[in-house]
Amino acid sequence: MSNKFIVVEGSEGVGKSYQIKIIERYLIDNKIDYILTREPGGTNFGESIRDIILNDDNNTEELTDSLLFYASRYENYKKIILPALDAGKTVVCDRYHYSTLVYQGIVGNNSSVKAIHEIFDAIYSKMIDHIIYLYTTPKESFKRISKRSVTDKFESRGLSYLEDLSNAYELVFNGMKNITKIDTSEDKNITKDNLIKSLDKIFKKK
Ligand code: TMP
Repeated sequence: MSNKFIVVEGSEGVGKSYQIKIIERYLIDNKIDYILTREPGGTNFGESIRDIILNDDNNTEELTDSLLFYASRYENYKKIILPALDAGKTVVCDRYHYSTLVYQGIVGNNSSVKAIHEIFDAIYSKMIDHIIYLYTTPKESFKRISKRSVTDKFESRGLSYLEDLSNAYELVFNGMKNITKIDTSEDKNITKDNLIKSLDKIFKKK
């Protein structure tokens, strides 16, 4: 079984953290050597950047955030992702460059960010084996987020922002190869079964 680079993407309140735990359980149960990394984050540098970007008090511009996301990403890519893939490990990355295109480029309507995506897409997408795209309706996302006691600056932007994110993700992933779309609107166990079936396909167990 060859090692894979799997990216997990999706809007807010789609249950990404929970589903990533299911992915980890699957990898452990199947004795697949893996690392889990995230964006922004992954390295100590990236985690520091995460704190800066997600702090609304900094009141940063769309392009400023994007450059920071990209700085965090390049460190994650060079220092964590590539070495792990070279060592034969499977890599699961919680968000990747599609998040910047969706949040800052399309929803933020920033043409410089879209241009940066065009430059870096060839580098970053080259290594991806599979994208797991988690989605639900914006209304369901909103309902889930509303129950949280703490939200970060992107989670707290309301229903119409969630609708924009959802439309942008559909636009970006529509027709793309190597994508598994998982609807997380249903009961957690149904979603889990669908996710496990997809993982079986990715790892060619069935
Ligand atoms: P998380 O909550 O999924 O860990 O992601 C952190 C937040 O950062 C989330 O609200 C999405 C946002 N984000 C962007 O806006 N652009 C990006 O490029 C990335 C990686 C995350």
